[in-house]
Amino acid sequence: MRTQVAIIGAGPAGLLLSHLLHREGIESVVLEARSREYVEQRVRAGVLEHPTVQLLDEVGLADRLHREGLQHGGIHLLFDGERHHLDFTELTGKTITVYGQQEVVKDLIAARTASGGDVRFEVSDVALHDLDTDRPGVTFTHDGTAQRIECDIVAGCDGFRGVSRGTIPPGVLTEYQRDYPFAWLGILAEAPPSSPELIYAYHDNGFALHSMRSPAITRNYLQVQPDEDLDGWPDARIWDELQTRLATEGEPALTEGPLIEKGVTAMRSFVVEPMQYGRLFLGGDAAHIVPPTGAKGMNLAVADVRVLARAIARFEQKSGDELLRAYSATCLKRVWRAEHFSWWMTSMLHRFDDDPTNDAFQRQLQLSQLRYTVSSHAAAASLAENYVGLPVDGDQ
Ligand code: FAD
Ligand code: PHB
Repeated sequence: MRTQVAIIGAGPAGLLLSHLLHREGIESVVLEARSREYVEQRVRAGVLEHPTVQLLDEVGLADRLHREGLQHGGIHLLFDGERHHLDFTELTGKTITVYGQQEVVKDLIAARTASGGDVRFEVSDVALHDLDTDRPGVTFTHDGTAQRIECDIVAGCDGFRGVSRGTIPPGVLTEYQRDYPFAWLGILAEAPPSSPELIYAYHDNGFALHSMRSPAITRNYLQVQPDEDLDGWPDARIWDELQTRLATEGEPALTEGPLIEKGVTAMRSFVVEPMQYGRLFLGGDAAHIVPPTGAKGMNLAVADVRVLARAIARFEQKSGDELLRAYSATCLKRVWRAEHFSWWMTSMLHRFDDDPTNDAFQRQLQLSQLRYTVSSHAAAASLAENYVGLPVDGDQ
């Protein structure tokens, strides 16, 4: 089989790349290990930054997002029992949109399917070949049959645990990594949001986040141990802890409801440089991970493939490979800005139990940073412009 671009992974990065390439008249095949139902139901990110929404708008993918997504003009920071509003509209002139990642994925799959796109689910044994030649290939098994795709370019959009990055020979990549001494326990509940906008809470018991998916569904997170056993967290304990950490003077308690989902997510910062080897280009979580505190992961995946689609289009139209050669350096500027912002938000808002001797000092630093962020226009604007997303072609 022959195509122009073989894309590994049908997450936001792989599917959006396929859509953007289609709009440029470029053929691709997307290979996904999981079933369609699985990727459409996987609960993950929820916040789309301004440039992400703008891009989805430009490429005809934002109709349902505008109907069902929740447009937010800011967030709250909660500490010492008081809630402080950061008004993004006033600080930046921009907003964010709360719309579940699985909804973006559903919209992308629907768009690819409607235009005859080739997306294959439940493939196995994916392996990449001849990446250092101008005729790379991908082998895989689908419906019990072993197959091979010949292509011009392979896009590794298969997430942090995919095969693409591992195919690159040793010594090519430089890895940067930081693990955090905590994880997030995330729940989805049938309960209306208790605040019109997200609340990021700093508390002695640890961080908590109040988010949402719709006027009827809340999404909440609690900082827990990295190896936390979910069995120790019956629903009542989760709600108790959320009520404690999110308690705000003068505000009613959170509205509780039955849990639809719960899971634990590790917190990690990770980047590989370069995001390319020969004809293989890595995009999204395959190349970098951020802790979710800055709500940047999916947005970075979108930003990568926007750059990659343009570079591939130029290359396939025989207009040169300059953009392809610049791909990694172009993306990494934005990636490192998001890495810093996500690390900074994480450091300001979590309890770092691993170092109890420094904890009292660190706690004072965190509280000082929080007070400064909500009282200084410059500090608030800095958080806001990073959160809503820096301009796509800006210098970062
Ligand atoms: P993925 O979504 O991981 O997609 C990769 C795909 O490749 C998957 O479908 C996988 O099944 C497939 N795959 C893997 N291996 C193979 C293989 N060998 N062969 C074929 N297919 C393969 N980001 C935000 O922007 N905002 C947020 O608010 C936010 N909150 C988050 C909250 C949580 C709890 C978590 C876990 C993440 C959050 N993120 C957030 C991060 C965001 O979900 C990821 O950054 C995003 O999914 C990256 O997209 P991707 O397409 O690069 O990778
Ligand atoms: C979410 O709604 O899932 C969410 C929101 C903000 C974050 C992380 C996750 O920082």
